[in-house]
Amino acid sequence: MNATSPIESAATARVHLADYREPDWRIETVELEFDLDPLDTRVLARLQLRRSGHAIGPLRLDGEGLELLAIRLDGVALGDSDYRLEANGLVVFDARDGSLLETQTRLEPLHNTALSGLYTSKGGSGAVLLTQCEAQGFRRITWFPDRPDVLSRYRVTLRADRQRFPLLLSNGNLLTRGETGDGRHWATWQDPHPKPCYLFALVAGDLATLDDEFVTVEGRRVALRIHANAELIGRCAYAMDALKRAMRWDEVNYGRCYDLDIFQIVATDDFNMGAMENKGLNIFNSKYLLVDPAHSSDEDFRHVEAIVAHEYFHNWTGNRVTCRDWFQLALKEGLTVYREQQFSADSGSVVLKRIEDVQILRRAQFTEDAGPLAHAVRPDSYAAIDNFYTATVYDKGAELIRMLAARLGRAGWRAGMDEYFHRHDGQAATVEQFLAALGGANDLDLSGYLVWYAQAGTPVLSATGQYDAQSKTYTLSLKQSTAPTPGQPIKHSLPIPVRIALLGDNGLPLPLRLADSGAETSDESVLELQQESQSWRFLDIPAAPRAVSLLRGCSAPVRLSTQASATELAFLLSHESDGFNRWEAAQQLARLAFDEQLERLATQPMVKSKSPDRPADSPSAIWCDALASLIGDVTLDPALLAELLSPPDELELAERCTPYDPTLAWMAREALENSLAHALGAATLTRHADLLRQEQGAIDGAAQNRRRLLNRCLALAARREPARVFAIAAQRSVDAPSMSERQAALGVLTRHAAPQADAALASFEQAHATDAVTLDKWFALQARIPSEDTVERVEALLAHPAFSLRNPNRVHALLGTFAIRSPLAFHRADGAGYALFERALIELDGLNPQVAARMATAVRDFRRLEPGRRGRLQAMLRRLQDLPDCSRDLADILRRALDEA
Ligand code: TRP
Ligand code: ZN
Repeated sequence: MNATSPIESAATARVHLADYREPDWRIETVELEFDLDPLDTRVLARLQLRRSGHAIGPLRLDGEGLELLAIRLDGVALGDSDYRLEANGLVVFDARDGSLLETQTRLEPLHNTALSGLYTSKGGSGAVLLTQCEAQGFRRITWFPDRPDVLSRYRVTLRADRQRFPLLLSNGNLLTRGETGDGRHWATWQDPHPKPCYLFALVAGDLATLDDEFVTVEGRRVALRIHANAELIGRCAYAMDALKRAMRWDEVNYGRCYDLDIFQIVATDDFNMGAMENKGLNIFNSKYLLVDPAHSSDEDFRHVEAIVAHEYFHNWTGNRVTCRDWFQLALKEGLTVYREQQFSADSGSVVLKRIEDVQILRRAQFTEDAGPLAHAVRPDSYAAIDNFYTATVYDKGAELIRMLAARLGRAGWRAGMDEYFHRHDGQAATVEQFLAALGGANDLDLSGYLVWYAQAGTPVLSATGQYDAQSKTYTLSLKQSTAPTPGQPIKHSLPIPVRIALLGDNGLPLPLRLADSGAETSDESVLELQQESQSWRFLDIPAAPRAVSLLRGCSAPVRLSTQASATELAFLLSHESDGFNRWEAAQQLARLAFDEQLERLATQPMVKSKSPDRPADSPSAIWCDALASLIGDVTLDPALLAELLSPPDELELAERCTPYDPTLAWMAREALENSLAHALGAATLTRHADLLRQEQGAIDGAAQNRRRLLNRCLALAARREPARVFAIAAQRSVDAPSMSERQAALGVLTRHAAPQADAALASFEQAHATDAVTLDKWFALQARIPSEDTVERVEALLAHPAFSLRNPNRVHALLGTFAIRSPLAFHRADGAGYALFERALIELDGLNPQVAARMATAVRDFRRLEPGRRGRLQAMLRRLQDLPDCSRDLADILRRALDEA
């Protein structure tokens, strides 16, 4: 029998936070026995049932796409009238408190293309069987109350062919193992820590292992093992090192030790997301685990360090303390992202890490928050939880934690977190409980922050300042407003911490003393805006400040709207001591320069001069001059300099064009880059040459920082001296000692359609033909070539033998890059880009709904486009919606994007 027949009500049901009820039934212990085979896996589940006092109905278990072979209650086989199979579940009528329920289920992991539940991945020497259960994959493995507030102790036995699956892994510690005599073997794992079923995992396959050990401060010896396909095992060393550093860091900074005898990580090429924190058995997308200098860019290394730490930190924030329901997702994700951000900042540069995090926030979260998919960090209802693993939950969620941590100060934050673990270890908690624990340890009521969790949309903060020479006071007025978002027409005021400094003529901060405060002064202040608008008066300010530095370090996830002039921003760019705000001044200045380019193109679109005349006090000229005076500065951190030399990317700038004309926006950004390249003159190539002399392909922080500037200089120089730079790039794309540089050089050639581009692409393909993760770079580089012909190129690549819609990394590299990073081609006026995307999306949805839904978010902002493209995309979204077997995940995105919630 098969229980997947669609039932309308189930497919359209929404889940509401307000409807939360404690579970009627809990499962105290779970025993699972798997007879593993890619085509025919049998799962025997023994559930020890506990009925709550308040329970009213019969036992109901979730189950999706399962074939039930047998069912027994307290040892007695059940007849047809003793239970009922539903579309997505199983009801057992006579289960009692203390009953033992046994089910036997049949699965076909080989045919599971959704990569949720138990599925297979091609390994070096055959298939690997593995699981992904968050958020609701466990119900695709066996019948169970698939909700995070049901915590159980697991004992898991795996049986499989010994040759094909020598490695048999599950959560917790290995109990016993042995042979069954018929060429099969088995292993039994026991996890002593109660956990929700979304943290269950198993892996069976033929993988190589990197072994290491860690001794906790408590003296526990922990075996560390990373497993990957044999030919990739040499790329695990960096991840192992990052893991050990993360383990130590969590001990030192949060007093949290590891709590099992073994910690394992498995790499797979086929994975829907970055990685998964299964208890004691993390599973990673290879892209975020396997790196070495020959195949991985500096960014890849940074991702590995961050994600290894992220998943490890979940052991406490997520696993030991888990979420009561999926509305609390940010309780584990926002908090864990924040912990990872702290860790990465500690192991590298605080300023650079903050710049990178704010870039992600602006590109992914602010844009999400401004469109039809905007939702609160803790939404109050959802139709498909898979669609809420978003930048809002993760990155805005982390910003909310950052504000709380800043509010409490170092010691208060640590005390609050200690209290949180103390109160909720072993429990499934809520955001309210988290705030209560933090507040409890600090004698504060933090419930005012709840509105940040409940309200979607990015607040706009505006500031005006006034100096009064007579009284020598400076008054700063701050005002907040948040535009309506879907389902939330009325917005409340939020508590917004605003870190500020006033800079004097020499660039030094003026001593700040607030009216109505003591005599003490400080170089900066944190103003907490509570109401819609408020003013603060600073005393003893001898002269009008030269510049105001607002929202230092991006102290709140808001958009800042200031009247700062280009000259004031240029002053901040050269004098601000807060590294982050220095970069921020450069960004703001570049935005003004972009607006100016856009305006010019809109009024005189035919003029395509490379460095058009413009007055010396125009934002563009001021921006270029300021950067020209910095490029030779060898005392500046080269990576920071590279970031100062980079205007906001196309995703951020696109937001500034209403309606959005992709061609115009692209031309304006090109003009912006060209103007900078020409203003910097020969300096870019000079610095490039200097840096090249030091370049040996090392991966330490200093080498990575130099490389960031080296690559940026080459990209800029290509706009001024193309022939010369193309020759350099062609050479470096083949023989530079690091992948970062080779990839950047290849990018220069392809982006400018250099004569050497095709040969360089061909040699890259040849070098990495059998290396999936590295070949993704080759697909992505081509998908983002800024040309209308990229549509045909992507079309051809979809038919490339190495392309497959079954592999999420490939899909992101080719289709994702095309839809998000290739505006000229994707938005081609004849609709060819959309048509290609539509065809691929339909096929993809039939294979992997989670990935299809994520791809579809690329067009969520279609309403911002000029009418022609808007109409085409809207028609496309409607057609997709009308597909008879459109998945629940995709349908949810389409419905919200079309604003038909
Ligand atoms: N919990 C994972 C993390 O952030 C996210 C994750 C991994 C995930 N795989 C998934 C979420 C599949 C949804 C579906 O670390
Ligand atoms: Zn996470």
